[in-house]
Amino acid sequence: MKNADFEGMVETSDEWIVQRTGIRQRHVAADDETTASLGEAAARAALGSAGMTPADIDLIILATSTPNNTFPATAVEIQNRLGMHHGFAFDMQAVCSGFVYAVATADLYIRGGLAKRVLVIGSETFSRILDWSDRSTCVLFGDGAGALVLEAEDGAGVITDRGVLAASLRSDGAHKDKLFVDGGPSTTGTVGHLRMEGREVFKHAVGMITDVIEATFGEAGITAQDLDWFVPHQANKRIIDASAKKLGIAEQKVVVTVDLHGNTSAASVPLALSVAVADGRIKKGDLVLLEAMGGGFTWGAVLLRW
Ligand code: UT7
Repeated sequence: MKNADFEGMVETSDEWIVQRTGIRQRHVAADDETTASLGEAAARAALGSAGMTPADIDLIILATSTPNNTFPATAVEIQNRLGMHHGFAFDMQAVCSGFVYAVATADLYIRGGLAKRVLVIGSETFSRILDWSDRSTCVLFGDGAGALVLEAEDGAGVITDRGVLAASLRSDGAHKDKLFVDGGPSTTGTVGHLRMEGREVFKHAVGMITDVIEATFGEAGITAQDLDWFVPHQANKRIIDASAKKLGIAEQKVVVTVDLHGNTSAASVPLALSVAVADGRIKKGDLVLLEAMGGGFTWGAVLLRW
């Protein structure tokens, strides 16, 4: 769906959307597509590029805020769609930070010996929770899914190891009213619609993002210059640019896909990763920084070697 497609629906323009956000288009799931079907497709693509089959996986973590049902977890539905009847699966709910939380969690399951190969998926159908008459939110979000596989491997405990090297996760529920969905099973008994005070979220975003990234750099003992790629949450090009500038990350190291997908919440980081891997930018051995911030607020960063 292109920006121009909104022009007859709400009072907006392609020019406003591009200038304020960098978004040019977003994808909207078809009637017969769901968070589970998009997640399954991403999972199959990730397994294909890892040279694995569902039989090789022992844990699925799905980051989503738009599950197919209140329960069971959509991760379990994806497990079944993949023909997997072994191992375990669960959903992780940290809104736009969901994928970053899920990668950090998968790494801990591997380090703790509870899993050897983890399929980490971010899948969302935000089109189903948008208020399509609210121009301040409906133009910003899109649907999509992305996935990766993490596999246990002995490392030397040094920065040249592959996999997750450092992570920093944060949340603060005092900011709930700035970005939330006004429904839920325990309150209204309805699904509800996304509500956001965009300017308020924007005001906090850059500071929060740069704080967790600096903590992650400190833990790993690196600086921005050591990074090969910065793969931020794709909410707004202005937030991405301001964060990279504050951290001293060179523009050519920043992966930007917000123009292609809009804000796909927990799917945004894996979608950006998949674009940069597919076009040959991210290669084996590269040092990659993931970052996200969203509803809750939740925010976090993960440093990994691809
Ligand atoms: O993923 C979770 C994290 N979410 C985010 O990171 C989103 C953070 N926030 C943002 O990205 C930005 O705040 C927005 C893109 C949502 C808005 O940009 P802004 O520069 O902060 O604009 P604003 O909210 O200050 O609004 C400026 C004007 C307002 O009109 P007035 O009050 O100045 O007359 C809005 O009503 O733009 C108006 N406006 C629009 N105009 C045309 C709001 N939405 C639209 C629209 N088209 N779609």
